[in-house]
Amino acid sequence: STAGAPLQDLAGLAVVVSAGGTREYLDPVRFIGNRSSGLQGLALARAASARGASVTLVAANVSLPDPAGVKVVRVETTAQLRDAVVEASSAADAVVMAAAPADFRPAEHSATKIKKSEDGSSPTLHLEQNPDILAGLAADRPHPGIVVVGFAAETGDAQGTVLEHARAKLARKGCDLLVVNDVSGGAVFGAQDNEAVLLGQDGSAVPVARGSKSALAHAIWDRVVALRALG
Ligand code: CTP
Ligand code: CA
Repeated sequence: STAGAPLQDLAGLAVVVSAGGTREYLDPVRFIGNRSSGLQGLALARAASARGASVTLVAANVSLPDPAGVKVVRVETTAQLRDAVVEASSAADAVVMAAAPADFRPAEHSATKIKKSEDGSSPTLHLEQNPDILAGLAADRPHPGIVVVGFAAETGDAQGTVLEHARAKLARKGCDLLVVNDVSGGAVFGAQDNEAVLLGQDGSAVPVARGSKSALAHAIWDRVVALRALG
């Protein structure tokens, strides 16, 4: 369904996709950030647009060209990302949170550049937690018909397997679908390929075979279409 003219099964729908990684500034030149490239979010935006949706892409520090035919809102911080996603979601049929919001931000922000001290001592960073955009949207939905999709990059550890962590996250977040990447092996950031499991609130776990980020994007929109048909 990706070659030629794809099925216009998202025609008439408005969707919101977030992409990239947020930055939390310590001072005018320094920030806490992460390695999210925005490639998967861009693939989701492009795929939805190709299938006829009206797409708003909320892009956090994405250094890639804007996809054609998509409304792009550029943000830097998690607070800005939340505001933009919440605003765009009020009239949306689906929201996919592919962005990696920084979980913490510096508790204090210095308006001027932080200087090294004369005595060689290092500053201590005090962090506070950012709001959870996905959990907030799922709990406080702008309207009941909206489909809310989250992503999770997990590793298995002594506390549980990738799928156990992911199921717990799906329950915590309250979203309709969680796209789970197993990152135990390492490189996914900036990678061209992706492989995932789609976890549903009905207990389903549907694997999506390793393939392009575009192929995963289309598999996610297929599920969104199916969830809307059920809902
Ligand atoms: N997310 C969000 N707001 C945040 C953090 C995460 O909306 N402040 C969204 C992400 O966009 C993603 C999903 O929640 O769709 C899961 O992100 P993840 O970082 O895996 O979840 P966390 O709750 O932050 O858990 P962890 O401690 O594992 O990082
Ligand atoms: Ca996180």
